[in-house]
Order: sequence, then structure tokens, then C-alpha cells
Amino acid sequence: MSQLFTSYKIKDVTLRNRIAIPPMCQYSAIDGMPNDWHQVHYPAMARGGAGLVIVEATAVSKEGRITPGCLGIWNDEQTTEHAKIAASIKKAGAVAGIQIGHAGRKASANLPWQGDDHIAANDPRGWETISPSAIAFGAHLPKTPREMTISDIERVKSDFVSAAKRALEAGYEYLELHFAHGYLGQSFFSVHANKRQDQYGGNAENRSRFLSETFDAVKKVWPENLPLTMRFGVIEFDGRDEETLQEAIDLTKNLRSKGLDAISVSMGFSTPDVQIPWAPALLGSIAKRVRDEAKIPTTTAWGFGVPQLAEQALQQEQVDFIMIGRSHLTNPHWPYFAAQELGIEKPSWTLPAPYAHWLERYKTK
Ligand SMILES: Cc1cc2nc3c(=O)[nH]c(=O)nc-3n(C[C@H](O)[C@H](O)[C@H](O)COP(=O)(O)O)c2cc1C
Repeated sequence: MSQLFTSYKIKDVTLRNRIAIPPMCQYSAIDGMPNDWHQVHYPAMARGGAGLVIVEATAVSKEGRITPGCLGIWNDEQTTEHAKIAASIKKAGAVAGIQIGHAGRKASANLPWQGDDHIAANDPRGWETISPSAIAFGAHLPKTPREMTISDIERVKSDFVSAAKRALEAGYEYLELHFAHGYLGQSFFSVHANKRQDQYGGNAENRSRFLSETFDAVKKVWPENLPLTMRFGVIEFDGRDEETLQEAIDLTKNLRSKGLDAISVSMGFSTPDVQIPWAPALLGSIAKRVRDEAKIPTTTAWGFGVPQLAEQALQQEQVDFIMIGRSHLTNPHWPYFAAQELGIEKPSWTLPAPYAHWLERYKTK
């Protein structure tokens, strides 16, 4: 029996199926403000039938944006517009989630289609970047960040708390802390980005401290009945894989014991010196290992857009629900396509009534 189309309850929210849309930056905001693009894009994704739609990496502060086009949730005006997005996702039958984060040393970058590199030092569109240590990512992101002081660390943690409060106020019901992909949280955890000598650097416990403290601080303001989750890069493919994975599992277990409700297993991307063995469903077995060892509801992404692969990940208990990203960009009605592919009868139930009605009636014409 297909698992993909069974519902999934996590805390007080129920996903109508096991299909989730992961955060995907739209790079279409100005000053962090959601606009028409976001107000059309997100409900369109939700109408397609997924159980959970997570709004793109949304910066907890202006400096925390990846690019000048990234969304933010650091002021009231943004929160008001986010409330419209959350309401439209819910109206379309999906759970409304949001990913909040800080880009760290990968901030102040050009839009992907305008170079994807750091904005030049003399360009007024750019800004100062911060990171655990004054070490540049390298490659296309050469800018050296300023090493964070303890007061920077306290400020960013409190920015996460304010963003979480605003996300709740806006009506989001699923919160994902962005601790992945080489941004600030991941940078603290990373042996490549973090060379600090104080309590935030060195051994795994110290490198985990910023993530753990940020989680604790957000946990205090996020309601007990709604999922509080993280996206975390548990592997870099840098040759230090087993050690990193074990450290990541230890941290996940620890956060689980303090109330983390789910993990979205991803990659570290905290150094350009990696050899990622790109393949469909690349992280399936790694997600299973995290799920089995940390005993936590788990999801993952990267190459599950072939419906049989998504179904298989659930059947093999690698994940509890599955993230389908790019396939939704080309076809927001991916769930309909998946149901057809998996041979589910009358898959039109995955569609909004105005579409389904005509597809059913004129099926043979
Ligand atoms: C346009 C685009 C924007 C993305 N933005 C984010 C983001 O905001 N936060 C994040 O954690 N991952 C982001 N990602 C990664 C996706 O969430 C996802 O992991 C990736 O697309 C792989 O899944 P897929 O093979 O189903 O597309 C982005 C990916 C794409 C294609």
C-alpha cells in the first residue's frame, strides 16, 4: 500500500500526505518584504496538494539575508505580509511552515542568476558578513567575514527568538531552524568554518553550542503544541564523513531530548572542497541512520522527484515524510503526477475541485 498519500500527524498539525515542499529561496524580495511574487507562488505550491509547504530561508535580520532578494521576518510590515502567505497556504489545505536563518559568511551575495558570488566590496548593495571565525568560504564566495564577538552571538540568538515570535504571529504552524548549507548555524558546527578558541569552538560540544542555545532560546517562545524542527547538514562529503555524522547525530539526540520535533537531513556545504556523490535519493540511507539512531521524525530532500523513489524512502523507513523541491517548481501539481505514476485510482482527488471536476468528467474525451 502506498505510504506517500497517508496522512502524518506531528504535534498538533496533520499533513494530509507525506509530501512536503522544502524551503526554496525566490530571491524576489526587496528589503526582505514579501510581495506579489510570494503571494502567488506559495498558494500555487500549496494548491498542488503537498501536505506541508515550508517558506524559503527567511532572514532573522537584514544582515542575515543571503542576497538582497531574500525574504526577511525582522519587522512588523514583513510579518503582516507573511500572515497573508501563511493564510493562503492553509486555505489550500497544506500546513504552513517557514525556515528562519542567518546566512553568516555566505551573506551579501548576488542573486544566483546574477553571478551567485559575493557582492563586490565597493558595491553599496553589499554589507559586512559575520561568522564564527574570520575565514572566507572561498571559491565564488571570497569575502572574509568578521569574527563574531560574544555580544554578536547573543544578538543573533535573540534575532532568532524575535523571528520565531513573528512567525507564530503570522500564523505559521511549523518552524524550521536553518542549521544547514554552510550558513551561520552550520558554520558554528563546521570544523572548516569554526576555528574559535572559546566555548563556541573546538570540540563537538563547543561547536554545537550556538545551535543548541539558539534552539533552547526559540523553544521558550514557540508553542509546545506546534512542531519545532531544524534543517541540519549532517555530512559534508569532505572525507571527514563518519566523524561529522556521529557528531551531528549526538547533537540531534540532545536536541530531541530537549523537544526538537523533527530533523530535515541535509548536507553541510561549509567548504568548497567536497566530492558529493550526486545521485537520485542521495541522502536516503543517511536519513535512515539519523532516524534510527536519534529516534526522531525525519525527512530529507535531494533527488526524490521520481515518485517511486519518494515512495521507496517511506517504505524503507528512511523518512517519515519526504521533501520534493525542484519537481514542484516545474509542476506544482506533482502530487497528482505522483499518484498517477504510483497507479493510485482517481488521482484527481489530489487536485483543487475546479481542476479535478473537469479532468474527471472529460477524462475519456
Ligand atoms: C531555487 C532553490 C532555492 C533553494 N532555497 C533553499 C532555502 O531557502 N533553504 C534551504 O534549506 N534549501 C534551499 N534549497 C534546497 C532545497 O530545499 C532542496 O534541498 C533541493 O532543491 C534538493 O531537493 P530536490 O532534489 O527535491 O529539488 C533551494 C533549492 C532551490 C532549487
